[in-house]
Formats: sequence, structure tokens, C-alpha cells
Amino acid sequence: MAAYSDTVIDHFENPRNAGEMDSPDGEATVRNPVCGDRMQVMLRIEDGRIAKMQWLTRGCPPAIATSSWTSEHVEGWTLAEAETLTREAIAEGIGGLPKDKVHCSVLAADALKRAIADYRTRTA
Ligand code: FES
Repeated sequence: MAAYSDTVIDHFENPRNAGEMDSPDGEATVRNPVCGDRMQVMLRIEDGRIAKMQWLTRGCPPAIATSSWTSEHVEGWTLAEAETLTREAIAEGIGGLPKDKVHCSVLAADALKRAIADYRTRTA
């Protein structure tokens, strides 16, 4: 995995917050149209903030790493803040991605936004 940053390798080898959540307040599953990889995001929301994000990802090392990195970083964020997290910011946060792997950061950004949208629908 020489083409990956130390951050990508760390999150891939030691994923944070992976696994299923009981009765999430919001959840979404997205599939990457480029490669078919999938990510499920589950959220616990408390007082308008993300108390916990858990995820299940079937995909490549960057998909696993961006899932893990995102789950750590959005903890404590307001929903509005989390909705502004872009795939570019995620890719930058994990130390960049090789050109042919840039699409891998789409999963985490999209799944998070859709899980928040699911929460908003449930509580509307
Ligand atoms: Fe599919 Fe990376 S190759 S998300």
C-alpha cells in the first residue's frame, strides 16, 4: 500500500467505530457507481449533534479508511456542520488519495449526508 498516506494505512489497519448500531436515529446505505463498493452509515443523534457514527463498508482500503476517519471527525458536530463535509475535505483529511482512488472518498460523504437526511425525515 505504498501509494497511501500513513493516515489511510492507520485507519485501514485500525478502523474506528466499525460495526452495527442498535436502533440508529438515522441511517443510509450508498453504493459507489464507479466500482460497486458499498457503505452503510448509522447515526446516534443527541441534542442536534452527532453523538456517534458507526459504519459497515465493503470496499477498498481508502473506502474503509475514509469511513473510519469520517466517523471519528464528525463526533460532536452539529448536523448542519456534518452536512458541509465534502469528499474533498475527507480526502485531504486522510492525507490525500492516489488519482485513481479519488472516487473512493465519495462513499463516506454521501452516506453521511443521506443518513442525516434520513434522520431529518424521521423527525419531521
Ligand atoms: Fe470502490 Fe475505492 S475502489 S470505493
